[in-house]
Amino acid sequence: MKKFIGIALLSLSPLFMAQQIINQPVQTFQTAQYQSTKKAFIDNLIAQMTLQEKIGQLNLPTSGDFTTGQAQSSNIGKKIEQGLVGGLFNIKGADKIRAVQKVAVEKSRLKIPMIFGMDVIHGYETTFPIPLGLAATWDTDLVQQSAQIAAREAAADGINWTFSPMVDISREPRWGRVSEGSGEDPFLASEVAKAMVYGYQGKDLALKNTILACVKHFALYGAPEGGMDYNTVDMSHTRMFNEYFPPYKAAVDAGVGSVMASFNEVDGIPATGNKWLMDEVLRKKWGFDGFIVTDYTGINEMVEHGMGDLQQSSALALNAGIDMDMVGEGFLTTLEKSLKEGKVSEAQITQAARRILEAKYDLGLFQDPYRYGNAAEAKKEVFSQKNRDAARSIAAQSMVLLKNDNQVLPLKKQGTVAVIGPLVNNSVNMPGTWSVATKHGSAVTLVDGLKQVVGKDVKILTAKGSNVEDSEKLENIYAAHGKVVDRDNRGKEVLLKEAVEVASKADVIVLAIGESAEMSGESSSRAEITIPQTQVDLLEALKKTGKPIAMVLFTGRPLALSNVHETPDAILNAWFPGTEAGLAIADVLFGKVNPSGKLPMTFPRSLGQVPIYYNHKNTGRPLNPQKVEKCEYERFRANYMDECNTPLYPFGYGLSYTSFTYSEPRVSKERPKGNDKLQVSVDVSNTGSYDGAEVVQLYVRDLVGSNTRPVKELKGFEKVLLKKGETKTVTFTLTPEDLKFYDHKLNYEWEEGEFDIMVGTNSAEVKSKRIYWSK
Ligand code: BGC
Repeated sequence: MKKFIGIALLSLSPLFMAQQIINQPVQTFQTAQYQSTKKAFIDNLIAQMTLQEKIGQLNLPTSGDFTTGQAQSSNIGKKIEQGLVGGLFNIKGADKIRAVQKVAVEKSRLKIPMIFGMDVIHGYETTFPIPLGLAATWDTDLVQQSAQIAAREAAADGINWTFSPMVDISREPRWGRVSEGSGEDPFLASEVAKAMVYGYQGKDLALKNTILACVKHFALYGAPEGGMDYNTVDMSHTRMFNEYFPPYKAAVDAGVGSVMASFNEVDGIPATGNKWLMDEVLRKKWGFDGFIVTDYTGINEMVEHGMGDLQQSSALALNAGIDMDMVGEGFLTTLEKSLKEGKVSEAQITQAARRILEAKYDLGLFQDPYRYGNAAEAKKEVFSQKNRDAARSIAAQSMVLLKNDNQVLPLKKQGTVAVIGPLVNNSVNMPGTWSVATKHGSAVTLVDGLKQVVGKDVKILTAKGSNVEDSEKLENIYAAHGKVVDRDNRGKEVLLKEAVEVASKADVIVLAIGESAEMSGESSSRAEITIPQTQVDLLEALKKTGKPIAMVLFTGRPLALSNVHETPDAILNAWFPGTEAGLAIADVLFGKVNPSGKLPMTFPRSLGQVPIYYNHKNTGRPLNPQKVEKCEYERFRANYMDECNTPLYPFGYGLSYTSFTYSEPRVSKERPKGNDKLQVSVDVSNTGSYDGAEVVQLYVRDLVGSNTRPVKELKGFEKVLLKKGETKTVTFTLTPEDLKFYDHKLNYEWEEGEFDIMVGTNSAEVKSKRIYWSK
């Protein structure tokens, strides 16, 4: 599905009126004159560089403010003076960064400025929902706005390079890093990837408020065996190209300036040393011309992978096409020796240095090394009310209403509300994982947000009700990176009793349960994906009060909710909403915002179903659809004896306070031919009693192919605002480009034949029209 190309003004919200939506790669704005001046400048610089200085450009230490791996760099200042550092990451603050840059441009021989990176993953100090939540908006303009604001804040504070977007497709909810990506679908994730790249990079990288993006983790990091972080990945090439590669490629097509290699192996060779991946696929096939950085100590880790010692691993990485070595100093300490021994060539080192210098040139650092980072500017921009307002509104758009029996939601602004749960008064958990720049403790808690939104109209009572987890040991593991959960050691029974007492004085219960922030994210794999039992017990105890329960779910991953979803009247999945968490949740609970988020990843009934994803293939023995519907077992068919085939909540699912109906889809031709454009239209009506937005989804199934094809694939989506009683026609355009796939010989083509064109409110509820598309 082709989306409108060009530059448009967002019309959705007055908040964003003045901001541009860019959807062209930076390079397309660069003139031939610019390119040739740049080349001449860099040629001249390289001619003056010693071998050591070239290798120095490839070295990326961390400042030590935040560390996530094994190695620690030391004596960074000295090395900067010697020209042995190309960039530094995770150092925060305009003045601090300026001081380091000063060393580089005043004390090093060639005065080459450094780049300053950071994990600006879902916002800077103003923190947006976790990326999985951002994807749940299905609104690429909003995603782009979030990246744009993040870039502005980071740049004002001295950062000019972010390690984002993370676009690893994953069907593995055990893997904690699903929180950092866009979920299971290549199409949705590709749209989000592009939006983020445009948001960070804008149309000119040299502007003071745009920063270099880095798509990661290339590649396949989201498919670790057993869902255990860093684990082995093994998959067929057709699956790679059709299902896992598209979002990386979309980021490359959007002009992303850098790529980060993943920790895992790809086809038996760690990505960091994988020449096929970096050179053949990324550079040659996709035409990527930026630089490639390893992940944290990625080269050193090849030693453990069994690829040889540090010298051998470093040579392997350079030969594979890696340009920059994050933290491990393998390049810095071994490349000279490898050059002498003929294991690498000077041309390769020069080429890598050139790519780093090109990025610095594009960022405008040779014109003004202090272009980024201005304490006065940062004071105005960072965590400004304007940015926080945007975060609040985007967070509200990310929430997914999973259930709403008896229209318990929206709540009325009257009476008494009991707000219960282990994190209802906890600020540090609200930004979620990978929020390194956030100002800890500045996020709005659920209780505070509710109080602000309801004012004096509603009496708010609160109780903790339970800890996140009964076991203190586990709870500490979950809070390992410093996001404390304020453990209450009075004992489970005391907490329960207090909560029941509070609840019995209220008209309605808002119960917030689920995960704490660091139960997802890096190194946060779980072998169970349920809500900890102590919180389920709390839900059960509150149920006995007979009061209506609106459950707010905090989570960084799809959870198996079979044991809880019957109990509350409503479930609102809030993910981790960011710094404005409490306000955004309150906006949705009290109906200021009608929820319109949709799941970017399937929620299973139980862990045994994993991997469960909507765009699966058929087996030769699929279960008959009626049996699937009724959850009936059939012997010698593809199903479980003890579990249904359907998920609890399918991909694309999400309710609204209003209701929508869909007409049958119409097509402009039933027998399109060749390069025809096929229009697919559907009338969507708001039949409920609130205005609301609906994400209309288009899926296609290729019925017969030279290779087996998925039962459906997302090919388009559009979020439409519908006033109550209103009907709008939504039209998608399909071309043969949308039908292409990689066959077993990796030819990318479409094949003539029958296709089911499906439109609906989620991946499981669609209306279908069959067409025949001939060559
Ligand atoms: C993560 C990356 C991150 C890097 C730098 C690594 O541990 O895998 O996603 O960008 O650290 O902080």
